[in-house]
Amino acid sequence: MAKQRILSGIQPTGNLHLGNYLGAIRNWVELQDQYDAFLFMADLHAITVPHDPQRLADNTYKVAATYIACGIDPEQATIFVQSHLSAHAELAWLFNCITPLNWLERMIQFKEKAVKQGENVSIGLLDYPVLQAADILLYEPDLVPVGEDQKQHLELTRDIAARLNFQYGSEDTPILKVPEPMIREAGARVMSLTDGTKKMSKSDPSEQSRIDLTDSPEVITKKIKRAKTDPERGLWFDDPARPECHNLLGLYMVLSGQTKAAVVAECQDMGWGQFKPLLAETAVQALAPIQAKFNALMGDRAYLEQILKTGQEKAAAVAYPTLAKVKDALGFSHPV
Ligand code: TRP
Repeated sequence: MAKQRILSGIQPTGNLHLGNYLGAIRNWVELQDQYDAFLFMADLHAITVPHDPQRLADNTYKVAATYIACGIDPEQATIFVQSHLSAHAELAWLFNCITPLNWLERMIQFKEKAVKQGENVSIGLLDYPVLQAADILLYEPDLVPVGEDQKQHLELTRDIAARLNFQYGSEDTPILKVPEPMIREAGARVMSLTDGTKKMSKSDPSEQSRIDLTDSPEVITKKIKRAKTDPERGLWFDDPARPECHNLLGLYMVLSGQTKAAVVAECQDMGWGQFKPLLAETAVQALAPIQAKFNALMGDRAYLEQILKTGQEKAAAVAYPTLAKVKDALGFSHPV
């Protein structure tokens, strides 16, 4: 039997951090044997807010190198750049014409980002979820592994597919496959080092709030040392009054590869002064092999380009037939 397909992506905006690794990429690494994985860099999404053209390509290569450095096997998974396939933008346009405007106006992420952008809100920012629907539906994945914050975008994707099928398909032959979301459980979320109730995020203005995957051992140690804590003695999980404690213990658990019970036993009597150096050392050790591989990959542009070329070809073989199916259903003529 053919493997089921998964598809996911990350925007190449700035450095990736521990939250991207532990919350997303590590999960894909675990899934890649069992599933046919399509993983991409969402560079078209990266320009929905003001961006620096000097850095877009480099950031895209960095995300690709990060995927591989974290353990995605390019021989197995399909790693590609969104903008290398015109099908994404083209299908997004077709979807634009069947998507009611009010479906987009109510998107939570749009409303949040729009507030931050002030006067500078582009049509692209509003249209972001439609492009995401195109990213997904082009590849007819069975499952889309994403974080909790993408739930609404996944629902929109399913609504767009269903609407297209309803308006232009017939009941027994749907045009597009409606994928299932695969939402990570909340515990897998890595929270900010400055506020244990907020997600670790690239867009947080404070560098101190996150550990970038490329941070040096000194920087990692310093950030953990300065991480927000509380005056309690003893460390435990799952206390809503101690979100930072829960987050840092969770980080220690995944970075050290131990079970929760083992971490509870080891850390229950510790104070912060003992725990923080332990966590810092564990984080440094866990990231060292990833950093070494990342640096090697960033030094071999030809190799990365080859992977992205192969990825583009494998992606194209799936995406363009899907696009053709939609264009046919909408009644377009064919060029001769
Ligand atoms: N919006 C996603 C995020 O910010 C990135 C993304 C774009 C994506 N297209 C996608 C994720 C398609 C999954 C599938 O995390």
